[in-house]
Amino acid sequence: MNTSTILDATSGVASDSADAASSEQRIAIIGMGAMGRRVVSSLRAGPFGRIAIAGLDPYADANALKVDLDVDLFANLDDLMAWAPTVVVECAGHTAVEGVVAQCLERGVDAIVASVGALSSDELRARLHQAQEIGGSELIVVSGAIGGLDALSAARGSGIESVRYVGRKPPRAWSGTPADGEFDLAAIDKPTVIFDGTAAESARLYPKNANVTAAVAIAGIGFDKTHVTMMADPSVNKNVHEVEAKGPFGQLNIRLENNPLPDNPKTSWLAALSIEDAILRRLQHVI
Ligand SMILES: NC(=O)c1ccc[n+]([C@@H]2O[C@H](COP(=O)([O-])OP(=O)(O)OC[C@H]3O[C@@H](n4cnc5c(N)ncnc54)[C@H](O)[C@@H]3O)[C@@H](O)[C@H]2O)c1
Repeated sequence: MNTSTILDATSGVASDSADAASSEQRIAIIGMGAMGRRVVSSLRAGPFGRIAIAGLDPYADANALKVDLDVDLFANLDDLMAWAPTVVVECAGHTAVEGVVAQCLERGVDAIVASVGALSSDELRARLHQAQEIGGSELIVVSGAIGGLDALSAARGSGIESVRYVGRKPPRAWSGTPADGEFDLAAIDKPTVIFDGTAAESARLYPKNANVTAAVAIAGIGFDKTHVTMMADPSVNKNVHEVEAKGPFGQLNIRLENNPLPDNPKTSWLAALSIEDAILRRLQHVI
């Protein structure tokens, strides 16, 4: 990383923060990987014209971010907070939700979170709840790679009897997970169940695949009651998510076949679009 263009609290950008922030929308992106960069590109092409965008990512190339996306990279969270962001957007992974998002909320800055799987921890959910109360801020959880969660959430009013999630990915997409070793992934030639249990267990064993199941559990009947089946399926070439819920309200069926982001085949494009949508809603609320 070239540190020459990384900003600190003594730079020009940070020093005029308070006054400028009152009239300007400022988006802070935590994690400038495939999703973070995609979100910035879309914002730059979107309806709000020039929005100030800064990043926090210890592994990112500050010069490339400035040249390619006009994003200023900050060296640490204190300096980013001094820049007075309107909203912070986490696109970094579960550890950033624990380490960065809670601090932003405590300091009164709303946070949009992509790594929803981190919220499978009761302890972290309680900490984030407390941080919102301290800061008078709001945690915004996106639906990410799944959708229709507003209907699932509304159905709770009638009492939901069951929620079942089935996720299918090509066998190679499970490499680097506990299924890799337990199964000969390269030899799988028919749909094969690699996990069957609760959303709580799947988040513990498959944390990198927990974003969708966590979003479903939070919107519906919780981590212990949501049934999760994950399959290595050679007949699919996309990530396929299916949710079925039943109750006095009727029956809900959701099915999504997600294309990946070009820069990260493990991340669904829809997840980045969901973050972009949450940012636009947040900015429209402010405007
Ligand atoms: N909700 C969903 O449906 C959904 C779907 C896909 C991905 N995600 C989440 O989005 C995250 C980002 O996806 P991606 O494709 O951009 O991943 P990526 O690996 O391409 O990028 C992650 C970036 O975060 C940076 N980073 C890591 N830890 C950090 C920290 N503590 N502080 C700041 N930056 C940090 C890395 O350097 C990297 O540049 C994933 O980790 C995943 O948790 C959510």
